[in-house]
Amino acid sequence: MIYEDLKSRKVLITGASSGIGSATAVMFSDQGCFVGVHYFRTKEGAEQTLEQVKKSSDGLLLQADIRDEKQVHKMVEQFAKEAGGIDVLVNNAGSLIDRQPFETATVRYHDDVYATNVRSILLATRAALPYLKESRGNIVNIGSVAGHHGGGVGSGIYAGAKAAVATETIAMAMEFAPYGIRVNSVLPGFIETRFHERFSSAQRRKEVAERTPLGRNGTAEDVAKAVLFLASDAAGFITGEYIAVNGGLYMRA
Ligand SMILES: NC(=O)c1ccc[n+]([C@@H]2O[C@H](COP(=O)([O-])OP(=O)(O)OC[C@H]3O[C@@H](n4cnc5c(N)ncnc54)[C@H](OP(=O)(O)O)[C@@H]3O)[C@@H](O)[C@H]2O)c1
Repeated sequence: MIYEDLKSRKVLITGASSGIGSATAVMFSDQGCFVGVHYFRTKEGAEQTLEQVKKSSDGLLLQADIRDEKQVHKMVEQFAKEAGGIDVLVNNAGSLIDRQPFETATVRYHDDVYATNVRSILLATRAALPYLKESRGNIVNIGSVAGHHGGGVGSGIYAGAKAAVATETIAMAMEFAPYGIRVNSVLPGFIETRFHERFSSAQRRKEVAERTPLGRNGTAEDVAKAVLFLASDAAGFITGEYIAVNGGLYMRA
């Protein structure tokens, strides 16, 4: 699918060294976008993403701990300067970090989950806002269906953080609408990336695929397609909305 309006857009994607962020970066480059490939620890993965991006367009490597205000501000400024502005911000960086049930979770773990998944969005969005105002651009936040159903064992705190992402997406959509900036979210279900290689057993991955109505777990590309749609003019009158990408695993009326 080609979205003509996306050609030459300047797109900054956080957490593009792996999984969903990487696939999204490559898909935006296929549309002719200039792509900011942000990473934190996985430099090699980010370099591989950029190599893919450069096959059809151009882009830039950017490093920052997404929890740190100064680093994020510097990273966003660097992208805006080199790209000549920002049209789309994809707030994708995030992690479960660990599985810790409420009964035994440490306060440090709780705060780190919220810093990684929620504070990160505040920091990147606020740094990008002057540029998005100028371009009347848009934001896509990556939440999770866990924010709807509460997550599995040991992922309840992460689920709470992703619920905050969903709610803040609506609040941001209200606040930024006067600037002509749309804000939407994509809620992935069970997507086969490094995330589940780290946090789910092979048996669990197989079991989830079997009970998913569409008969498989998702791919990073499944999620990227929804991000592109929301970022494009095809979604020009859509704001404060979400698209759940989960093969029918969790349906809501
Ligand atoms: N996979 C799923 O089933 C699923 C389901 C629902 C929601 N999600 C959400 O989708 C997003 C992408 O996940 P994924 O599955 O693609 O996982 P992934 O392959 O593990 O990628 C996570 C990305 O986030 C970055 N990141 C994590 N902590 C960071 C920090 N402190 N500072 C900067 N970057 C940081 C990582 O950067 P480095 O590796 O460079 O450090 C990496 O690029 C996350 O927000 C996740 O919560 C995933």
